[in-house]
Order: sequence, then C-alpha cells, then structure tokens
Amino acid sequence: RERYTGLINRYREYLPVSDSTPSVSLGEGDTPLIRLQNIPRLLGKDIDIYVKYEGLNPTGSFKDRGMTMAVTKAVEEGSTAIICASTGNTSAAAAAYAARAGITAFVLIPEGKIAMGKLAQAMMYGAVIMQIRGNFDAGMQLVKDIAGEAPVTIVNSVNPYRLQGQKTAAFEIVEELNRAPDFHCLPVGNAGNITAHWMGYSEYQRAGIVSSAPKMVGYQAAGSAPFLRGAPVENPETVATAIRIGNPQSWDKAWALQKESGGWFDELSDAEILDAQKLLAEKEGVFCEPASAASIGGAMRDIRSGKIPEGSTIVCTLTGNGLKDPDTAIEQCQAARMVTIDAELNAVKQAILSHM
Ligand code: F0G
Repeated sequence: RERYTGLINRYREYLPVSDSTPSVSLGEGDTPLIRLQNIPRLLGKDIDIYVKYEGLNPTGSFKDRGMTMAVTKAVEEGSTAIICASTGNTSAAAAAYAARAGITAFVLIPEGKIAMGKLAQAMMYGAVIMQIRGNFDAGMQLVKDIAGEAPVTIVNSVNPYRLQGQKTAAFEIVEELNRAPDFHCLPVGNAGNITAHWMGYSEYQRAGIVSSAPKMVGYQAAGSAPFLRGAPVENPETVATAIRIGNPQSWDKAWALQKESGGWFDELSDAEILDAQKLLAEKEGVFCEPASAASIGGAMRDIRSGKIPEGSTIVCTLTGNGLKDPDTAIEQCQAARMVTIDAELNAVKQAILSHM
C-alpha cells in the first residue's frame, strides 16, 4: 500500500495546485466512514446510516482539509502570516498548519466561548491569540476589515481554497460507497462545509463518477439558526459553541445548493444536540463534539418522521472530535456510571456486581 501523504497529493488533479506546488500537510483526510449498527435498530427502520468521522483528522476536525489547501496556497503565494476568526476549530487548524509551514498564525476567538481542547491547541501550536470581547460574527468582520490594513492572508472559509480542500470529503465518501448517498446531513454554521461537500459531489457527477448527488440537509442549533429565521441572528447562543454563528459567510451558496439538491435546513434544541451526542457515544462508540451531533440528531428525527424515507443511504458528517470539549461532556454526564471506592479488592467486586 502506498504511503498516504494527505489530501492534496491524493486529489491533486481536482485541486487548484500545480505539479510543483509543495503541499503543507499533516496527513489530513482519509477519515473513517463508519456504518452505524445499533442506532438504526433503535429507530426500527430499514435504513443505512454512515458517519464520516472527521474528528480523526490531525487537529481533530474537518478544518484540516481546508487548512492544508489554504496554507499551501498562502505559502506558495509568498505569505508569511495567516489570520482567521474562529469558534475554535479553525483556529486550531490554522495554528497547526502555520507551525508546520513556519509562518505566523493570528487567531481571533470569542472570549470564554470556545471549548477548552481547542484553546489548548491554539496555545500549544503557538498561534498569536486575540480573545475578543465579542462573538464570532464580530471577529469575522474584523478579519475582513484588517486584510486591507496588514500583510496577512485570511484563512476563513471566505478564502476559496478552504472549500476546495473540504470538498474532498465528498470524494472519499463516493469512493467508499461506490455511489453518492441519498442524503448527506451536516451541522451548519457559516455553511462553508455544506457548500464544499456539494461542490465535491457535483464535480464527481459532472465527471461521470456518480450518476446522482445527495439531497443536502443542514442542521443548525435553535439559538443560532439564521437559515431557519431567514435572516442573520443578532446574539446567537448554543451549547454547541462551534456553530454559535449568527451571520453565515456562505449564505447565498447555501440557499442555492439547498434548492439544487432538493434538501432542507432544520434546527435542533441544545437538549436534542446533547442527547444525540450521548446516544452516538453510548450506542456506537463514536464520540463527537456537540456541534457535530446536530447532524445525527437531525437525521434521526427526519428518519422517524419519514421525511428521510426507508431504504435510504444517509451520511452524517461528524465534524469534530468529542475530546475538543471535555467540559460539556463531563457536565452532561453527571449521572455517569462512576463510583468512588476504596482501593481494595472487595470494593471493586461490589462495584462490578452492582452494575451487572
Ligand atoms: N462543526 C464544527 C465542529 C465546526 O467547528 C464548525 C465550524 C461547523 C460544524 C460548521 O461548519 O461553518 O462550515 O458551516 N467552525 C468554525 C470554526 C466556524 O471557527 O471553527 P460551517
């Protein structure tokens, strides 16, 4: 088997790189597509659900797909600094790929509103971190405004190379299933990732590799659901801090692909998101972060209602690793099966017997 060296080398012919472009890679992509076994049984439906576990990328989220492209092109164009606003994952990926490339990463994050794992990553990789007294949308506006004032390359998803890299997730899914799924469900914040997936499926359809493309279904957190409100949300709130976004950057593209694909947008309460996260971990052994669970939680609801019909093949993208946000996980497991016991054999025996 050939050594895997990241998605740029894997998909060079589909990406805006030349033979001489040196890729800045950490081996991103090639993530597992896991077929669910227990949740379909619980639903009592004849349905094929796969989760694309993007949490197994090098920095623990799908952002690595976009960042390998964005940083590769930034370096190729001679840039020595990158900047992004982030709810956490983009900052972690930007920091890591900048470190790899030997350039500087500046990241703007909403003070107190990013998960601990993500903050730890940005700090460890050596990014210059600006905590702003404001939310992601404010940070995004600042990043757009500063680009004309300072020599930094924006690596948010408004950078077209980001979506180019992220579209490769759709390629991988097609290659594993030997077809496109009937439905592809994703959590939606800025709507960059759902846009990128649609680009990927559409390209493979145009190339004749697949005969059809999936209906694209985007799920938002109810407190941060501009696509459901039909307008930006002023003060977005949700436990799923990754998608705590009120003013999506890919607004028009997202509406266009929704119509083109025949899919839809919907919203989940924070409680539904956390329930889905726990269920997936408990029943399938797959731990994703809260935002990611919106995809499977939403899909389950739409399968139950019949909106996603029996006989369908569904892919849900799990955008980030559960370890990103240990605080939320521990907090929602206060009733976990944990006992404190004396360090002696009998106590261990009692604990075992009482849980069988
Ligand atoms: N899931 C996770 C775990 C994310 O981190 C994000 C976005 C999304 C879903 C939504 O993707 O914005 O393309 O619709 N996180 C960005 C960040 C905003 O800064 O890390 P989208």
